[in-house]
Amino acid sequence: MRKKIVAGNWKMNKTVHEGIELAKIINRQAEENDVIVILCPPFPHLTEVAGTITKDSLFTGAQNCASEASGAYTGEVSAEMIHSAGAEYVIIGHSERRTYFNETDETLNKKVKLALANDLTPIFCCGEVLAERQAGKHMQIVKSQLEKGLFDLSPEDFGRIVIAYEPVWAIGTGVTATAEQAQEMHKMIREHIAEKYRNAVAGNTSILYGGSCKPSNAKELFSNPDVDGGLIGGASLSAADFIGIVNAF
Ligand code: PGA
Repeated sequence: MRKKIVAGNWKMNKTVHEGIELAKIINRQAEENDVIVILCPPFPHLTEVAGTITKDSLFTGAQNCASEASGAYTGEVSAEMIHSAGAEYVIIGHSERRTYFNETDETLNKKVKLALANDLTPIFCCGEVLAERQAGKHMQIVKSQLEKGLFDLSPEDFGRIVIAYEPVWAIGTGVTATAEQAQEMHKMIREHIAEKYRNAVAGNTSILYGGSCKPSNAKELFSNPDVDGGLIGGASLSAADFIGIVNAF
């Protein structure tokens, strides 16, 4: 059975102190059930946020990792360091990284492999921009991102990946994909994984939706058969909103 997951991507928000306070409230309020909840704070917060967590269903993740293992790469943070800070997940290929930091499919593929080699679960992001959807190319774009980023992994390694479908036009815009648009894309992603790997691998892969997900629309999105949870940006900065989304399951 694939896992239900709600991950909060704090992006470049909150001081360490504010982050710990938020993590404490979420740790207190999160119910221990079958939903995996992941907090992805900025790097400087990781160790302390991980240390705040006492519930078995709560985990921490980083928002990015370096594409090299170690060495003279000033300003970079390696997968090994992230793991040593207590994190168990890492977001890879967020559209903001792809757009603002020119991360290519090839770079992301290297990051995925380093994450796996360091016992981190990659949350691999894919998604089209508005012009690509309007041109009817969204399925093709997402397929290509999956193929280039992930499809050279062994079935065993692929089995450790979490996918996040995030239509770029829905991120931080207040415009959410409709439940039908999300389900259509998630179903295509699962079928594409099944074609490359096996039905069992595809059936066990958690596919999260991201893009203006909030307590008011989470239930409708999560009730789709191929939507296994969410990657939450803005709404993860408020404990009440984030817990509201987790409780939408
Ligand atoms: P949003 O961001 O929820 O603020 O739209 C989602 C994301 O970027 O992961």
